[in-house]
Amino acid sequence: MSTESLNKIIRNRKTIYPTQFSEKEIPENIINEILENAIHAPTHRMTQPWFFRVYKGKSKDVLCQIIEKIDKEKYSSIKINKFIEKVKLSDTILSVCMTRDKNDRVPEWEEIAAVSMAVQNIWLSCYVNNIGSYWSTPSLKEEYAKHAGLNKNQKSLGFFFMGSYVHHETPKLREGLDSKVKWV
Ligand SMILES: Cc1cc2nc3c(=O)[nH]c(=O)nc-3n(C[C@H](O)[C@H](O)[C@H](O)COP(=O)(O)O)c2cc1C
Repeated sequence: MSTESLNKIIRNRKTIYPTQFSEKEIPENIINEILENAIHAPTHRMTQPWFFRVYKGKSKDVLCQIIEKIDKEKYSSIKINKFIEKVKLSDTILSVCMTRDKNDRVPEWEEIAAVSMAVQNIWLSCYVNNIGSYWSTPSLKEEYAKHAGLNKNQKSLGFFFMGSYVHHETPKLREGLDSKVKWV
């Protein structure tokens, strides 16, 4: 692959929200390819802290049922309904989880960093596969963790919504290198 291609992928990847997705189905083998890229992310001491639950097709109803169990006194029905609406508009939703190393061999932030790198691999892979996607980290994720039966050593780091989308090249909002880099 050329440097230009890699630059283009990285610089054009964008957050695409579920209202922008089309209804075209994403084949399961593409989802698996994308997840394979996820698990090739770097990991300190090979703890490989990433874990994904995949909700697609009928199992999207399972995710909705879990979210509906959330205490309405803690989270408003408006927030819960908005989440369910996003699930319905998406082809696939990944529940992004971090499994903490049992022996605490690395600090937690390094495990979160490794999972985040896996998510970036997913995000870039979505871009080249004509999939729109976004990482959502609502506060209800802790309640989700409870009701979805995540292990004690697992944490929810949010949800990754995916749906078919043809990407356009539009300018990206970023401050320039001048304010972010200092050559010493
Ligand atoms: C760790 C993380 C958590 C995020 N959580 C949310 C979220 O809860 N809701 C949301 O709308 N966007 C969320 N985003 C997406 C950002 O809003 C988005 O990446 C940012 O606006 C930059 O746009 P871009 O992805 O198109 O470059 C999250 C991004 C990251 C990296």
